[in-house]
Amino acid sequence: MPLTIEAALSAGRTALEGAGVETSALDARLLLEAAMDADTARIVAEPDQALDTRQEEQYRWFLERRQNREPISQILGRRAFWKDEFEVTADTLTPRPDSETLIELAVDHFRRGAPRRILDLGTGTGCLLLSVLREFPDAAGVGVDVTPGACQAALRNARRLGLDSRTRIICGNWGTAIGGVFDLILCNPPYIAERERETLPPEVTEFEPHQALFAGVRGLDAYRALIPGLAAKLAPGGALIVEIGHGQGAGIGQILMESGFYVAARARDLANRERCLLATVAHT
Ligand SMILES: C[S@@+](CC[C@H](N)C(=O)[O-])C[C@H]1O[C@@H](n2cnc3c(N)ncnc32)[C@H](O)[C@@H]1O
Repeated sequence: MPLTIEAALSAGRTALEGAGVETSALDARLLLEAAMDADTARIVAEPDQALDTRQEEQYRWFLERRQNREPISQILGRRAFWKDEFEVTADTLTPRPDSETLIELAVDHFRRGAPRRILDLGTGTGCLLLSVLREFPDAAGVGVDVTPGACQAALRNARRLGLDSRTRIICGNWGTAIGGVFDLILCNPPYIAERERETLPPEVTEFEPHQALFAGVRGLDAYRALIPGLAAKLAPGGALIVEIGHGQGAGIGQILMESGFYVAARARDLANRERCLLATVAHT
């Protein structure tokens, strides 16, 4: 008997619940929408509509992967961030809504004079760089990542969003391979402390790239490695915006200060946690 939308949603919800997925109803719907190439309105309005064989096979395959706790973003290969949708792969961190705080802070800080040269360290999907390039149409940017697969994904995202003529992607170690100065430097480095590994869900520990997540005992190793070289890369009047983890504000503020920066602004995410710092350099 053909499977209807209503029956598929119900079976999917039960299967995902059994696998410990907290958002089972939402995830079943998202996977069904993707399998049927349908929008939410159709899924809601046509509960008696039957899936064809290909749609049913696809849905079962998606459900199986989600039952193994693969993140929805990797199953679908995309995630919305700021004003666009970004390709996501096993080599890239899935863009998080909290990171939109960096874009808001950049837009707010540069509202009286847009940056022209932008650097994004640890670009991953390119979501930070490409979102600020969309906000500042006269700017050009460089994204750097150490993971070749992430660099390729960032480049594909730039092309798909029509921003490739203003984007360069470089595979390398933080800012070491980059010459010149920038008006805006963005960085969302790995910042999870090793001891937190056990508290994370399998979606993160088993599927997201560890190079994008973990950074030593206190989660500060990447900041220590990359911040000291950055003051020399900031143009006069420029700003560095870094994402930080919960409770890391004081430690990273100290690293910034020791590296010639002054913390000029702090911004909080939707959960009211301090999420990023904006630092400048006093040029003489
Ligand atoms: C937390 S993810 C951020 C990804 C993306 N910018 C975002 O906000 O979603 C950190 C990124 O830094 C990259 N990375 C880790 N170590 C690096 C290094 N030494 N040099 C350059 N990039 C590095 C990782 O591959 C990963 O893509």
